[in-house]
Amino acid sequence: GRPQLGEVEGILLSQSTCNEWQRIQSFQARPDDLLICTYPKAGTTWIQEIVDMIQQDGDLEKCKRAPVHHRHPFIEWARPPQPSGVEQAEAMPSPRTLKTHLPVKLLPPSFWEQKCKFLYVARNAKDCMVSYYHFQRMSKVVPDPGPWHEYFEMFMAGKVGWGPWHDHVKGWWKVKDMHCVLFLFYEDMKKVMPSPQDPKCEIQKVAQFLGKNLDQELLEKIVYHTSFDVMKDNPMANRSGIPVSIMDQSISPFMRKGTVGDWKNHFTVAQNERFEDDYEKKMAGTNLTFCMEL
Ligand code: A3P
Repeated sequence: GRPQLGEVEGILLSQSTCNEWQRIQSFQARPDDLLICTYPKAGTTWIQEIVDMIQQDGDLEKCKRAPVHHRHPFIEWARPPQPSGVEQAEAMPSPRTLKTHLPVKLLPPSFWEQKCKFLYVARNAKDCMVSYYHFQRMSKVVPDPGPWHEYFEMFMAGKVGWGPWHDHVKGWWKVKDMHCVLFLFYEDMKKVMPSPQDPKCEIQKVAQFLGKNLDQELLEKIVYHTSFDVMKDNPMANRSGIPVSIMDQSISPFMRKGTVGDWKNHFTVAQNERFEDDYEKKMAGTNLTFCMEL
């Protein structure tokens, strides 16, 4: 059967993460750590590949050293007997790039104390919900999502792994000016403008945040290599090496659609009204806005 989730401070997390919680909370960050932070399905794999391409100066061979989900230790990941995310990070030389889906309130305090750099990618709630639903259908190590209408209610209630989408984005949005946070949107990343001079060039923003400047040629190489179609066919990005017993991509591929607005193919009119009503209440008082279609 599928595993159940555990809970930390009201946030659902995998049981194995809950079991290791003390060790995760006492994680020792280093001042030169870069932490990639996302709500699940917001484009984690995509930003990981972009960051890696920038850090490796576009060297494709170096970027293919390991599947992208293994290149950056996943802080709260714990599945004994394999080394946990904490152990992988401890064994890694500096400067480290790490990954987390944790909401602000659950982040190991050391990251704040060490004044690390945080790269947050946010994706609109409706597309996150749809993507998460399909992910839970095919991933055997997370709970079965059940039928869409039931999943819809669970997501709205925040009863999914890593908790409510709303609190996650609001939490990271709130800390962004007090800490070194680059806050990006999946929807902006889809609007590719491959000129290093363009202030809306999201890849260039990431590069500058990492202290690098991309010339036109390198920028175009990164845009191409991290496009959905290329990543979908890249065995080091598409998780094709993961056994079917863990991820059955015949049910839904990991690189599923990679678009903005697929929620329209899933939400009924009534669901959309209910969702927006609830969304308005939960997002009241924040100036954080999302693009729901391109
Ligand atoms: P969809 O299910 O909507 O297709 P994560 O990596 O955080 O788990 O996010 C997965 C989502 O990001 C999936 O969304 C996946 O298709 C999408 N994605 C992955 N690589 C992408 C890329 N290069 N461009 C656009 N979307 C991408």
